[in-house]
Amino acid sequence: MTDHRSPDARFRTSLLEENDGPATNPTENRTMGEIIAERFSRRAFLKGSLAVSAIAATVSPLALVAADDARAAEGSAFSFDELEAGIDDKHHVAPGYDADVLLRWGDPLFADSPEFDPARQSAEAQARQFGYNNDYVGYIGIDGSAEHGLLVVNHEYTNPHLMFPGIVKIVEKDGKKAAELTPLSKEQVDVEMAAHGGTIVEIRKEGGKWQVVRDGKLNRRITSNTEMALSGPVAGHDRVKTNADPSGTKVVGTFNNCAGGVTPWGTYVMAEENIHGYFSGELPEGHKEAANYKRLGIPEGAYEWGAHYDRFDLAKEPNEPNRFGWIVEVDVNDPTSTPRKRTAMGRFKHEGAESIVAKDGRVVFYLGDDERFEYVYKFVTAGRFDPDDRAANMNLLDDGTLHVAKFAADGTVDWLPIVFGQGPLTAENGFAGQADVLIETRRAADLLGATKMDRPEDIQPNRVNGKVYVMLTNNSKRKADQVDAANPRADNAFGHIIEISEDGGDFAGTRGKWEVLLKCGDPAVADVGATFSTATTANGWFGMPDNCAVDSAGRLWVATDGQGPKATGRTDGLWAVDTEGPARATSKLFFRVPIGAEMCGPLFAPDDQTAFVAVQHPGDGGEDWEAFGRPSYYEDPSTRWPDFKPDMPVRPAVVAITKQGGGKIAI
Ligand code: FEO
Ligand code: CA
Ligand code: CA
Repeated sequence: MTDHRSPDARFRTSLLEENDGPATNPTENRTMGEIIAERFSRRAFLKGSLAVSAIAATVSPLALVAADDARAAEGSAFSFDELEAGIDDKHHVAPGYDADVLLRWGDPLFADSPEFDPARQSAEAQARQFGYNNDYVGYIGIDGSAEHGLLVVNHEYTNPHLMFPGIVKIVEKDGKKAAELTPLSKEQVDVEMAAHGGTIVEIRKEGGKWQVVRDGKLNRRITSNTEMALSGPVAGHDRVKTNADPSGTKVVGTFNNCAGGVTPWGTYVMAEENIHGYFSGELPEGHKEAANYKRLGIPEGAYEWGAHYDRFDLAKEPNEPNRFGWIVEVDVNDPTSTPRKRTAMGRFKHEGAESIVAKDGRVVFYLGDDERFEYVYKFVTAGRFDPDDRAANMNLLDDGTLHVAKFAADGTVDWLPIVFGQGPLTAENGFAGQADVLIETRRAADLLGATKMDRPEDIQPNRVNGKVYVMLTNNSKRKADQVDAANPRADNAFGHIIEISEDGGDFAGTRGKWEVLLKCGDPAVADVGATFSTATTANGWFGMPDNCAVDSAGRLWVATDGQGPKATGRTDGLWAVDTEGPARATSKLFFRVPIGAEMCGPLFAPDDQTAFVAVQHPGDGGEDWEAFGRPSYYEDPSTRWPDFKPDMPVRPAVVAITKQGGGKIAI
């Protein structure tokens, strides 16, 4: 292991989530910012602007329309009194709503689970309790119920500095406080491994409030030690064989499960995102996977797992990283089922996997690769969804076509098939078959000329209006010659949202149209070039769109990651964003997280009467470290949310938001 504990360094696992490492995409493919700039400068030119100034070149026509239209707020699809943006140690929801903590890190999930005891943590206890850093939240109704179902929740990563007592020491260096971390014990690493993965837990609404059913027969924890199968084109390939698994079909565990999805046939899919952080050590000299791993930033070594388990040490198991970076499918109806890594859906830093059934019955999954300058993908199954035969759908994800998006300046988007033998994906470029293409999905997409995006995160198809929403968090590494001159913070510091309309309303098709729904950031700062409608208040704008949800009325809700005192003067939260009519691009704040947290989930129950949101990494340092003059850690956290007890650490948790007195949210 490399010693990464420079006293000046921020906590490494936090940085991993911020994707703050060096961008790894080496190609000259055009960036989204370049194409947007070209597109809007063309439009501004066509409009006959007197001077196509740098700023005018980035103002979306949507903003111009909204600015002229005083009815914007009246046309809103949302009805609630807006919450005030701000920063403190608590969560807040719009007036008239309750936001109740449903599941916290360490909460017992089974009848025999031990109660959470932060001073005496063990892997055995953690594997029977709710995991750390809840991210994706899905709901699978039992017998179609909106008030009784399975909640499926990803546990993306761990923050040892907030989880374990006694590992952070504060030292004074150059007049500044800094943290030094004690290496984790093997027992603590084991707790981390058990705190990753996912939770499947039965929940029921009683008297208007959600309860966890602790003896639910389908309750299950998935961890970094759960046995999984590799399936699809890569299964059994030489590049996924290891000493422990000469068959190349059996993988131990999953980790860094960020967003995900629930399939139309009621399975739970988990996206493996920042997998590079778990590997350490060095590949043998001249190893054939060197370039493949470099493209994904492997090894990054933020975690100490390689010090205790050979499979995370590249010197000992050089093929192991090829067994991660996939979409994992879990059959929630059988708690003993083996989760399957669906290799046909490609290998990259998978953010999520939201799906929709196309007109012809094929199923389409939209997939983001969350890193600066990476790509937007979609997977189209070869087979058709059968709503009357669940078993017939169980291997749909093993056969289909992965595509990558190429956005053109004329407003079209082409979905380029990533298929061995087509175009440049041949032996000449080092691919011997589809398995190679999938293991090196990023390189295949590079060769196809896909468009480099500003951190593609959650992508959500909207079955009501037929559109697809793409969250692009930000890209602070964009060089000046790659961005519009009017956006000096770079570099797309606040991100944007793209709206795609597939041609003919065919989600399985290979061409669509795209439009910018929103460029994010503070609209009061002209240089930012944000395009919220003028009906958007000072509380209503946001930066860093990350996760999103569409409720059953087809309304868009956006969750953010990365705001804070220095970036936007507000915590992350959940914003309601109008997409239709005169109110388009109007945003309103509905819920906000405590300091240090990011907003994950979100998810609306099928009856729209509950919004489930996941408060991830509350109390984490991030940029608040400097704003508060000290790091935030187990003994001295910036918040003790949600318990606010002196002997309880800050705990990530899922919150259920309901309207007081009942009813649909924001109606
Ligand atoms: Fe784990 Fe891309 O957020
Ligand atoms: Ca995310
Ligand atoms: Ca995130």
